Amino acid sequence: MSEASMSDGHDGRHPMTGNRMTPDEAEGRGLERHRYDVVVIGAGGAGLRAAIAAHDAGARTAIVCKSLLGKAHTVMAEGGIAAAMGNRWPEDNWEVHFRDTMRGGKMLNNWRMAQLHAQEAPERVLELEDWGALFDRTDDGLISQRDFGGHKYARLAHVGDRTGLEMIRTLQQRAVALDIDVFMECTVTDLLKDGETVSGAFGYWRETGRFVVFEAPSVVLATGGIGKSFKVTSNSWEYTGDGHALALRAGASLINMEFVQFHPTGMVWPPSVKGLLVTESVRGDGGILKNSEGKRFMFDYIPEFFRAETADTVEEADRWYDDKANNRRPPELLPRDEVARAINSEIKAGRGSPHGGIYLDIASRRSPEFIRKRLPSMYHQFKELADVDITAEPMEIGPTCHYVMGGIEVDADTELSAVPGLYAVGECSGGMHGSNRLGGNSLSDLLVFGRRAGEAAAAYADGLGDSRPAVDDAAVAAAEAGALRPFGEEGGENPYTIQHDLQQSMNDLVGIIRTASELEEALEHIEGFKQRAQHLSVEGHRQYNPGWHLALDLRNMLLVSECIAKAALARQESRGGHTRDDFPATESDWGTKNLALRLDAAGTGVDLSEQPLPVMPDELKTFFESQ
Ligand code: FUM
Repeated sequence: MSEASMSDGHDGRHPMTGNRMTPDEAEGRGLERHRYDVVVIGAGGAGLRAAIAAHDAGARTAIVCKSLLGKAHTVMAEGGIAAAMGNRWPEDNWEVHFRDTMRGGKMLNNWRMAQLHAQEAPERVLELEDWGALFDRTDDGLISQRDFGGHKYARLAHVGDRTGLEMIRTLQQRAVALDIDVFMECTVTDLLKDGETVSGAFGYWRETGRFVVFEAPSVVLATGGIGKSFKVTSNSWEYTGDGHALALRAGASLINMEFVQFHPTGMVWPPSVKGLLVTESVRGDGGILKNSEGKRFMFDYIPEFFRAETADTVEEADRWYDDKANNRRPPELLPRDEVARAINSEIKAGRGSPHGGIYLDIASRRSPEFIRKRLPSMYHQFKELADVDITAEPMEIGPTCHYVMGGIEVDADTELSAVPGLYAVGECSGGMHGSNRLGGNSLSDLLVFGRRAGEAAAAYADGLGDSRPAVDDAAVAAAEAGALRPFGEEGGENPYTIQHDLQQSMNDLVGIIRTASELEEALEHIEGFKQRAQHLSVEGHRQYNPGWHLALDLRNMLLVSECIAKAALARQESRGGHTRDDFPATESDWGTKNLALRLDAAGTGVDLSEQPLPVMPDELKTFFESQ
């Protein structure tokens, strides 16, 4: 952080940000206000990359993040950044990456986003290296690339199994070096508008509970996912669908919300770490899945679509490890939706492990030295949290809610939403991954589109000149009143109880396998939770009050949960991260349309509509004629 932003507040500057304080603020009363060209909400990889791009384009830029800088779900993308650099397979190129991504998303992806992503990812990786990221190397000294599910070639640039962490470290260091203002532990609760146009954001400091207004003609949402709506998740407390809900309430639309990614491998034991991610790199580096009978069951689940690229037998898969030239995939490296469903079926059929999971075994495939070198975090994670030595024994794992494919509908080239001045990037945006994301594509997604969003947001703010949208005092007063409402209610509901009930319902009724009756029941539950949430009450005062913070987050969790359940009920087919037991087939009719959600007229729920997918140009269609 800059010297200015390390101020103690006695020099007329804010103690957290170093910005000059308003007279009111300096006197310890009134509303804190800041003015920027671009405000980025969220400081994961997408937010940091967007802020760097906006700053580099000359915009006065701030990052506002709910948590501490550096603490982001980006670190949970452990295995690598997908980019067709061709370091291990010279025949790899953007066209193959584009095709893999579209196929992985079961062709529901926004083709233009998938194209830009595949074309620009290698350059973004090299740029990250220029900025100081220390990638693992091949014997020839190139950036090493590992195998991951659904990618035809080994293309994940990696740093052991800590790639997301290295990415955050690098971007954070750069943002700090560029002296970009960072407002940490500051939660945004409302977007502010001037007519139809964004004019800023309203939020509160988590520590003091004091309110703060950011005036800015460009706001970039980079708030990540929605995992905390589910009971078992790799997401931490921050991921309550804030950006999704802020955008909906500001008038933007969400797409693809029925598609939720259950990562096949999360820890299942001990209970305190249930859901914690076990990186796909374990399978990418040779790990296999077994059931309680010791059977390598994934051979029973290779769908017709992938058969040509996947080993059919144990012998063939084993040969694959020794003979890379053959380049057929072991079945453990099918796309995540396929593997998660297979694991779910084995557990349901009674062939699970003692703690309700399945076995992931790398000990019998790789030497202890190899495992400790390539998977150091996994080695320590299991040793320290579960007392399991993964170099000697298998891990117990099961699916965990990891990522939402659905998000804010944006223009592919600029990441602009339907609301002028409002941009979205990373997990809170939708379209790029279609119905299922390939592992490693999130890190490249946030680099490629983070840069694009930051540049576009800066250009938009610059183009406005002096005619900036104004912040409406009445809207600020309404946001303030809304945030304080839980303090005014006596004897109401405890937010923790509603959160617990919501997570249980989403897990039980909107999980990996869904049916109409379960989804209808989930929607009834959500309606009930919404009623109960009208009467939330919180104890105490505004200084660091987690109960109050949760009460405010719950509004977002309920809204995005409704979106997920509503879209899942409407889509009467199975595709990617949406499996309907009552509609098990993938239907070609459904392959041409998205489900879009907008806030309803009352402003309390969502309306759903079908809309056609953007049509892929013929020259890109030819890529799908070959394997
Ligand atoms: O398994 C993993 O390392 C996760 C990667 C990702 O979600 O992209």
